[in-house]
Amino acid sequence: MTHRIRKQPLSLCFVAILAVTLRQSCAATDAPPTAAPPTPTGQPERGYYNITNGNGTTCLMAYMGLQINVNVSSGTLNKAVWKVQNLQPNRTNSSGSCDSESSTLRLTDEQNKINLTFVFSMNATTNKYRLSEVSLSASWPDVKNPFSASNRSLDYLHGTAGRSYMCREQQNLPVTVNFSLNTFQLQVQPFNLTGDQFGTAEECQLDEDNMLIPIIVGAALAGLVLVVLVAYLIGRKRSHAGYQTI
Ligand SMILES: *[C@@H]1O[C@H](CO)[C@@H](O)[C@H](O)[C@H]1NC(C)=O
Ligand SMILES: *[C@@H]1O[C@H](CO)[C@@H](O)[C@H](O)[C@H]1NC(C)=O
Ligand SMILES: *[C@@H]1O[C@H](CO)[C@@H](O)[C@H](O)[C@H]1NC(C)=O
Ligand SMILES: *[C@@H]1O[C@H](CO)[C@@H](O)[C@H](O)[C@H]1NC(C)=O
Ligand SMILES: *[C@@H]1O[C@H](CO)[C@@H](O)[C@H](O)[C@H]1NC(C)=O
Ligand SMILES: *[C@@H]1O[C@H](CO)[C@@H](O)[C@H](O)[C@H]1NC(C)=O
Ligand SMILES: *[C@@H]1O[C@H](CO)[C@@H](O)[C@H](O)[C@H]1NC(C)=O
Ligand SMILES: *[C@@H]1O[C@H](CO)[C@@H](O)[C@H](O)[C@H]1NC(C)=O
Ligand SMILES: *[C@@H]1O[C@H](CO)[C@@H](O)[C@H](O)[C@H]1NC(C)=O
Ligand SMILES: *[C@@H]1O[C@H](CO)[C@@H](O)[C@H](O)[C@H]1NC(C)=O
Repeated sequence: MTHRIRKQPLSLCFVAILAVTLRQSCAATDAPPTAAPPTPTGQPERGYYNITNGNGTTCLMAYMGLQINVNVSSGTLNKAVWKVQNLQPNRTNSSGSCDSESSTLRLTDEQNKINLTFVFSMNATTNKYRLSEVSLSASWPDVKNPFSASNRSLDYLHGTAGRSYMCREQQNLPVTVNFSLNTFQLQVQPFNLTGDQFGTAEECQLDEDNMLIPIIVGAALAGLVLVVLVAYLIGRKRSHAGYQTI
């Protein structure tokens, strides 16, 4: 009897290890291939960035936290460093334009001299949109030269017309070797908004994986409980039989 009770924590330990490895392997496969910027200094505040067309109707809506990571030449240290800059929603102005094939969101922080532009493209044949272009220009006082970088051949944040794209988990979007964006609790819809509201959300892979982990661990635990229970019942029957023969 005591033997069986001792086995239980060991098995639990195994499940815990399984859970940890699963989480790590998922995180590893989802991370885009990039030189890892340093750990962020703090999570950026989540803000609404809306665009209204001439009509007064909202044609693009984003609700997210944004963090800029740039490899720049530091003026004070006199060498290349990764600079991390959070976008502060109440200091950031959004502007832009929408048409049926592309939507542009331009974020400006005059205090920090940041211009960050997103271009979303709609593929009319598939009815899917994606983030196709990001550009940044900024001039920080502690950075030697004004920074500027852009990439017009990106392929991120896939969504379907009439729906929004959502990613609760932190996401890293490499733009160039020297510039990547971190998004936090992102929800965006660059096309086909109705009534100033997000459409049905399409969740990113990272979020779906994270919802799967508790399910897998739960199923493993349930299976384990069953095995222990069966083993206990069999064991009890056997020892009963043992007593009868004596
Ligand atoms: C005005 O809004 C309506 C409905 O939202 C839309 O069909 C129309 O294209 C808009 N017109 C302009 C000029 O944006
Ligand atoms: C990246 O940044 C480093 C240092 O800040 C600079 O020397 C290099 O030219 C940059 N590379 C590109 C492609 O801009
Ligand atoms: C910045 O970019 C340069 C050139 O791409 C690279 O050699 C250097 O290692 C980078 N700096 C950091 C801190 O990653
Ligand atoms: C901007 O947000 C910060 C943090 O939430 C707050 O401390 C600050 O007072 C706000 N500034 C303005 C002008 O609203
Ligand atoms: C946004 O821009 C308008 C005019 O261009 C300006 O009056 C306003 O203060 C700006 N808001 C922020 C948060 O920068
Ligand atoms: C999205 O809007 C475009 C016009 O801007 C329209 O042609 C298309 O049918 C709409 N798609 C959906 C799924 O509502
Ligand atoms: C739209 O998607 C289809 C299928 O993926 C692709 O063949 C086509 O080139 C895309 N069109 C545009 C304008 O990107
Ligand atoms: C941001 O854009 C505005 C308007 O186009 C421009 O005047 C300003 O110089 C830009 N700032 C930077 C840092 O590029
Ligand atoms: C733009 O992004 C694509 C896809 O991530 C990448 O292959 C390409 O090297 C990038 N271009 C530049 C100039 O960084
Ligand atoms: C953007 O739209 C949302 C939803 O309609 C609204 O709650 C929010 O106040 C808007 N934000 C701005 C800055 O216009």
